[in-house]
Amino acid sequence: MHVILLGPPGVGKGTQGILLANSMGWQRVVTGDLLRAAVNAGTDLGQQAQEYMSAGELVPDPLIIEMVKEKLSALPAGTGVLFDGFPRTEPQVTAFGVMLEALGLTIDRVVVLEASDEVLVARIAGRRSCPTCGSVYNSVLAPPQREGVCDNDGSQLVHRTDDTEATVQNRLTVYRRETEPLISYYEGSNAIVHHISGDQGVDEVQAEVLQALGVGL
Ligand code: AP5
Repeated sequence: MHVILLGPPGVGKGTQGILLANSMGWQRVVTGDLLRAAVNAGTDLGQQAQEYMSAGELVPDPLIIEMVKEKLSALPAGTGVLFDGFPRTEPQVTAFGVMLEALGLTIDRVVVLEASDEVLVARIAGRRSCPTCGSVYNSVLAPPQREGVCDNDGSQLVHRTDDTEATVQNRLTVYRRETEPLISYYEGSNAIVHHISGDQGVDEVQAEVLQALGVGL
């Protein structure tokens, strides 16, 4: 199964993606995580991407497409794959289609998570992430057992540098302008598109996602 998780910043794509990948043994392709790893490693890609990410702008398509191509070609054949944060623009959709065709793959489902801007801004303000395993917490809504420490591996949790109020507003604007229109594209494709409210508890969202994908625990 190949699934795209689509939705605005802070809606819970990462939270649901981790739960789903862990329970189903699927791989995740998360362009935001790949970019943050490149920034932390100080690679050429990371240096080019950093300025865009800090401003809440999209990283240029050619850099993203190359990065995803590399990641896709390294995935073991025959596994389920969850795409989170990609594709985000029309050129990325087109390039993605070419990549998938070359590999004989198709997108089976698109899960669109939705919530109001008020909910998204509040969630992002409280988000804390583990730099080691990628686990996502929220200082108010989903706190770790020990404040500031990852439950899984004991790493010190971080507040993402693009989670400032000004950057979040721009990320929402960019999402509505560049990425939201892709939903109609996928509704007109062979993929089955499910709309799910992300404005419910994590478990409730997870149950609806599993039901939409027709997979159970
Ligand atoms: P990226 O990392 O993809 O960020 P995003 O799309 O803005 O999404 P987020 O990671 O902010 O949110 P999420 O939906 O995963 O929510 P989460 O589960 O963490 O992109 C970052 C930047 O990289 C972009 O701005 C761009 O510059 C660049 N980039 C990435 N991909 C690109 C591409 N393809 N093209 C060009 N540029 C690209 O949850 C958020 C918070 O809410 C957490 O605290 C969590 O604990 C909490 N929470 C989650 N679910 C619930 C719930 N149901 N109830 C209560 N709290 C919840």
